[in-house]
Amino acid sequence: MKILVVNGPNLNMLGKREPGVYGTLSLEQINADLSKEFPDIAFTFFQYNGEGAIIDALQKTLGKVYSGVILNPGAYTHTSYAIRDAIAALDTPIVEVHLSNVHTREEFRHRSVTAAVCAGQITGFGPRSYSLAVEAIRRLVR
Ligand code: DQA
Repeated sequence: MKILVVNGPNLNMLGKREPGVYGTLSLEQINADLSKEFPDIAFTFFQYNGEGAIIDALQKTLGKVYSGVILNPGAYTHTSYAIRDAIAALDTPIVEVHLSNVHTREEFRHRSVTAAVCAGQITGFGPRSYSLAVEAIRRLVR
């Protein structure tokens, strides 16, 4: 099984960025732990700060053999109709993840413009949000 993991803006700063909210692990550590936890899955990891680069990465899944995509759009979750449209154009299941529980935070984070076109959303479990998304994709494609 192949899974693409796409992280959006500022997630390259994990470990240094607001550790009280996002924890102390770097994105590289989170990715490495995920690969270790699921040795039978071939992961491809990308991180982009730009909206267009995220859209390009999603479009490139067309015709590829990914069973699913795990997407943390960062702050674009709350604003990006362009990423929403890119997700809607794909038939690969996309699971939206967030490290923090966006619903306990500032009001602008309560709305996701992307979640409605995803298979589902997992929010608030720290790095385990990514593990739970892998489990969700496994169950979806079974
Ligand atoms: C986030 C939540 C977003 O609101 C925020 O802009 C991020 C990270 C999360 O993983 O908790 O950059 O997606």
